[in-house]
Amino acid sequence: MTQNIAPLGIIGLGTMGRNLALNLADHAVPLVAWERDGALAARARAELPDGTIWADDAADLARRLASPRAVLLMVTAGAAVDAVIAALRPHLEAGDVIVDGGNTDAVDTARRQEALAADGIHLIGLGVSGGEEGARRGPALMAGGDAAAWDRVAPTLQAVAARAADGTPCCDRLGGGAAGHFVKTVHNGIEYAVMQALAEAYDLMRHGLSMDVDRIGETFATWNRGPGGGYLVEIAADVVRTRDSNGAPLLDKVVDRAGQKGTGRWASLAALDLGVAAPSIAEAVFARAVSAARDERQVLAAKAPEAVQIDPADLEAAFRAATLLSFLQGFVLIAAADARDGWKVDPVAVAKVWRAGCILRAPLLDRLAEAFAGLAPGTHPLAAPSLRAELAETLPGLRRTAAAGIGAGYAVPALTSSLSWHDGMVRARVPADFLQGLRDKFGAHTFERLDAPGNHHADWSGS
Ligand code: 6PG
Repeated sequence: MTQNIAPLGIIGLGTMGRNLALNLADHAVPLVAWERDGALAARARAELPDGTIWADDAADLARRLASPRAVLLMVTAGAAVDAVIAALRPHLEAGDVIVDGGNTDAVDTARRQEALAADGIHLIGLGVSGGEEGARRGPALMAGGDAAAWDRVAPTLQAVAARAADGTPCCDRLGGGAAGHFVKTVHNGIEYAVMQALAEAYDLMRHGLSMDVDRIGETFATWNRGPGGGYLVEIAADVVRTRDSNGAPLLDKVVDRAGQKGTGRWASLAALDLGVAAPSIAEAVFARAVSAARDERQVLAAKAPEAVQIDPADLEAAFRAATLLSFLQGFVLIAAADARDGWKVDPVAVAKVWRAGCILRAPLLDRLAEAFAGLAPGTHPLAAPSLRAELAETLPGLRRTAAAGIGAGYAVPALTSSLSWHDGMVRARVPADFLQGLRDKFGAHTFERLDAPGNHHADWSGS
């Protein structure tokens, strides 16, 4: 290898790209880097080691890469990815690999994979989780695409990924096609649901139980040491206790309007498209929409909700149950997309990749991996005996907490949607017979009978 040739190119040195590049440099991976934005490039140049090769443009980057080339894109998902691929493509050859490490919509990844395949260029969609700190110290990496192309870049990416407690890198090819980006989208959807469940628990504690932020922080810290703990619970304890310069809780100064970049919405849209129920994810997106309607809420604001009586153990159980049920909805969604697109995703591998480095990291992932490993392929995850046992322990607390919250006027959609999903899924017979009757009466939509084949129509005259 000559001095000006490196095995990996990286395009995009914003926050995530720069931190991942620094992480790669720590692992002695020689890099060719290209960043269009002068200020971002200057900052990255100051931080990355001297041996880093700086390319002037896409052509220069391609020239300075060992063949077959491997290029990691760390640019903002969307049009920027198309623009960079368009700039790069004329300078690539068959067998080269592009790895898109952005929060890209799986639909876009599938489209780009197909387009690039015409030139024999492989595109690996790589979900990267863990934020800035994860990129720097060890992210979870969820890959999808051609197996042989993945094998070429896997050792490098596995070296910089987070490691689970057993030493396994949290970096895997989770399936073909756009599997990696789809799994990352669902990861984020679950992230929305778990965060919403935490927000509801915070609301009930702060306003329903009149607990101060220190006690709430201690409560989250206690939960974090138990079976429902995890990164999001850990940071909940920090966030709630943080003070402003005058010593008041900082949260009380924060505008109650949640932002979103779209991945929760994509997960919900995918569920709707696939006809799969993922209500905890969708309700978490809707809760952000309610939060965003702040001006309307100011006008409509009624009497504040009342005090609630909730056993603290019930609240913890409620959070645990809602979290588990949100995860299971996510896994059902992945399985449905996989059944349609044929990626061959192993849920055990997904749970294992999420064990460290990502925002969802939690001891629950070990329990999920073990539970899924014991299930015959195609079995619904709610059938797993160990998960049923967890739910038997936590659902009573979820029922009591949801009922108390609703009774006192609190909106608890993450808790109630999780519960309703569970209760619907474990009923052999749901009232859709009645829906069919209504549909057939007003629109002659027909219905199926339990006792005879075919489609039937009745006059539903009431007698
Ligand atoms: C991660 C995060 C990361 C990002 C989310 C935030 O896994 O590291 O999920 O991807 O923080 O996209 O999403 P919202 O801005 O939509 O909440």
